[in-house]
Amino acid sequence: MVPRMVDRPSAGSAARPLVMVSNRGPVSFRHDEAGEIVARRGAGGLVSGIGPLMAGTGAVWVAAAMSDADREVAATGVTDVEGFRFRALAVDPDDYRAFYDVMANAALWFVHHGLYDRARRPVIDRQWWAAWAAYGTVNQAFAEGVAEVAPEGAVVLVQDLHLCLLAEPLAVSRPDLDLVHFSHTPFAGPDDLRVLPDDARTALLRGMAGHRACGFHTARWRDAFVASCRADGVEPPATFVSPLGPDVDDIGGVAAGPAGAAALADIEETVGDRRFIARVDRIELSKNLIRGFLAYEDLLDRRPEWREGVVFGAYVYPSREGLPEYLAYRTEVEGIVARINDRFATADWTPVLYDATDDFPRSVAALRRADVVLVNPIRDGLNLVAKEAAVVNERDGVLVLSPEAGVWDELANAVIPCHPFDITGTADALHEALALEGEPRQALSARWRKLSTARNPADWLADNLAAAD
Ligand code: F6P
Repeated sequence: MVPRMVDRPSAGSAARPLVMVSNRGPVSFRHDEAGEIVARRGAGGLVSGIGPLMAGTGAVWVAAAMSDADREVAATGVTDVEGFRFRALAVDPDDYRAFYDVMANAALWFVHHGLYDRARRPVIDRQWWAAWAAYGTVNQAFAEGVAEVAPEGAVVLVQDLHLCLLAEPLAVSRPDLDLVHFSHTPFAGPDDLRVLPDDARTALLRGMAGHRACGFHTARWRDAFVASCRADGVEPPATFVSPLGPDVDDIGGVAAGPAGAAALADIEETVGDRRFIARVDRIELSKNLIRGFLAYEDLLDRRPEWREGVVFGAYVYPSREGLPEYLAYRTEVEGIVARINDRFATADWTPVLYDATDDFPRSVAALRRADVVLVNPIRDGLNLVAKEAAVVNERDGVLVLSPEAGVWDELANAVIPCHPFDITGTADALHEALALEGEPRQALSARWRKLSTARNPADWLADNLAAAD
């Protein structure tokens, strides 16, 4: 799927020019069979949440060249593609791997999401310190890239844990710019952040504090950041809380399009009149896929009345396959799915439909058809999908939600909660959501829809721009 142009007056045509900076770009490139370079929408929450808002606005988006085709595009400077003014940045591939795989994904991501098995990891060795150096090198390259393309007096919106060290070099080279940092992840509180060595930890906090303001999806992550700054004697910058909202037009357009309709017909045919549980996620440790499937298995074990009466559709897509943890996680997830299907399947019922093909219209179709949507992260910055599902759902669906999801603060009154580590409790929550009938179901579902659409991406952008002034 590629982003559509949207008719919004905001980014880039506002009083001040705008530059967006993130590791993953709004589009990625690949060579097709004829060797031609083709663009497609980038993956992940940030891009699906903010991409449509920025397309067609004239704002420049600076992001890393992640594939060989991206590198070819990077060599051409700023490219106009799919409605974006896009600047792909190519850095040394070894530096990039160390920056992305080792430091951003295996270190900072694990710290902020509380994923370390601390008896074994992290191991802060020479390789780790080399990756830390590469993190600085790549941040410096981003700072130079931004300095090159940013119009005079621009607001620069810096996204996520990959890019915490831009503010200091840009303050020297481009003092005319105003930088705002936004974290799409949780933020570790002082105790968890102490896993990082002192030098690296304080450099990250100082780097973030160098922005005009730092934004977070919830007060919980904001408070953790401020507490972490204080614990290390770093004066926190101005902060703001701005949860992202769903792009109703964009996701509605995908739902209504021909690929969405075909996918829905396909799901309908397989599921029939059974109840349907859906989840849509990256194959990502923090999403807690394994315990979600274990809870479903427990449901089928303890409540046999659901056998043949429910299907669990998991529309998941591969992520960060350069990391052994993610490959092992995927293998484990797929083993559990196979076991559940082996144990319970009958001639005309498959308990779990597992689809790892990264097919966005199909994922949206599943959310339309879902009677229950499961979002049970161990810890997560927002989980925009929990709101997007409410936008497209057509079945008075019910959301089963972990209180560790960033959206919890906004949606708590409209969901059935599940403790992410409690498999028995999650199975009970699935049962409750499946069994809910009539008016109580409609009321809960309507509340979920209302709270989910209270904000939209333009609100998020407005908050970020206001923080720059
Ligand atoms: O949600 C946080 C985030 O880092 C987003 O910025 C990104 O789009 C998503 O996770 C996916 O991560 P990656 O770009 O590593 O696939």
